[in-house]
Amino acid sequence: VKSDALVFYGATGDLAFKKIFPALHMMVKRGNLQVPIIGVARGDYDLEKLKARAKESIQKHGNYEEESFQKFSNLLGFVGGDYTDEETFKRIRTAIGNAHHPTHYLAIPPVLFPSIIQQLDQSGCAKGARVIVEKPFGTDYESARALNKILLSKFSESSIYRIDHYLGKRPVNNIVFFRFVNSLLEPVWNKDHIESMQITMAENFGIQSRGAFYDVTGAIRDVIQNHLFQVLCNLTMEPPKALDSESIRDEKVKVLQAITPLRGQDVVRGQYKGYLSEKAVKPDSNTETFSAMRLHINSPRWEGVPFYIRAGKNLPVTCTEILVRFKHLPSAYSSVASKPNHIRFRISPDVTVAFGMLIMAEGEDMKSVMSEIQGNPTPFPNEKDAYERVLTDAMAGDPTHFARQDYVEEAWKIVDDYLASECPVFEYEPGTWGPENVDELILPPGGWNNPIVN
Ligand code: BG6
Repeated sequence: VKSDALVFYGATGDLAFKKIFPALHMMVKRGNLQVPIIGVARGDYDLEKLKARAKESIQKHGNYEEESFQKFSNLLGFVGGDYTDEETFKRIRTAIGNAHHPTHYLAIPPVLFPSIIQQLDQSGCAKGARVIVEKPFGTDYESARALNKILLSKFSESSIYRIDHYLGKRPVNNIVFFRFVNSLLEPVWNKDHIESMQITMAENFGIQSRGAFYDVTGAIRDVIQNHLFQVLCNLTMEPPKALDSESIRDEKVKVLQAITPLRGQDVVRGQYKGYLSEKAVKPDSNTETFSAMRLHINSPRWEGVPFYIRAGKNLPVTCTEILVRFKHLPSAYSSVASKPNHIRFRISPDVTVAFGMLIMAEGEDMKSVMSEIQGNPTPFPNEKDAYERVLTDAMAGDPTHFARQDYVEEAWKIVDDYLASECPVFEYEPGTWGPENVDELILPPGGWNNPIVN
């Protein structure tokens, strides 16, 4: 069912400013959002101030347009007050009016969840409602379970939408689509033909002003356990039996269940030089701003195939890219086949799916040269951004591109023991591809694919 009101908590926060207002404005602009939008925040805000902030946010981070902004602004309401005070929730109940399926979007730190969930229930705001929550979904398996328990005490799993904004990116979803609509891929998409896969998420900037959050999080919890595991699932899941949300999400969970928990010898952690003097970072912090790892999926399809994942801050470029390397088949031509075939998916900044193949090089000697054919080399012009897509889906009641409870818990099981083990962290120079010893410790056959960004 479609939701008929949106209440979002944390309306004056950073996420609202950078992502939520621009996304909601686009939804209104496209005619996908025509219900009351109620911003909730603590402190001395009022509706006029909120509208001014929304305007500034959309001008800075969105596609501001006077006419659609007016429409958006007319839908906007405000409730101020403390999240622990029942009066706040009475006012929210009044603001919801006669909406039967309000959506409560908790764009606030998870420490506030217990009291909010409780208050939503007591005030009658939870009736017929759904709830959207943001990552981090816990910091390990136990805390994720505790968080889920709180949510599940008042909401059913089918009304909980856990945002992993990577699932709102078309090129991420295209991985699954591309695999299963192109009939030539499925016969070779397995251990007999694929040599390895690697996923790189590089960012050429540091932790910016997020020291307090980042220092207790690190790269593995920040982007690998959620975003990049989702990408891995898309690359490796079995074909779902149908296209409904649960069939698809079931297959992803099965991938995670088949992954061997991470061991120390399969991970390298790095920290960029200068990290320790970032604001709000502990002076002796051991938090990783880079990690490379090797994973194995124990399934008939993937037995023995290594999967490499690498993510980091202050690397040479900002780019998320996947390289699937195929095996060489022995033949009389092996000696002139200079490189293995590959499929390359670039998720950002530009979008590409490329097939790498060898052709005969110029000249008379038998030499091969790598050549790529590419599909959709640019994002589509009217593309929804990730936040707009997930919020549109949540309001429409489609949970396909959200993390299910069992998914979140299985993902933590893979990294939990490793994260608890206090493994070493190696320093690296900003602007390089991580600590120098990463290649000694973990090197995909054929080397790392270091994306080149123009
Ligand atoms: C967030 C992380 O989830 O994703 C950030 O907390 C990271 O550290 C960001 O920079 C990357 O998202 P995107 O969409 O810019 O690739």
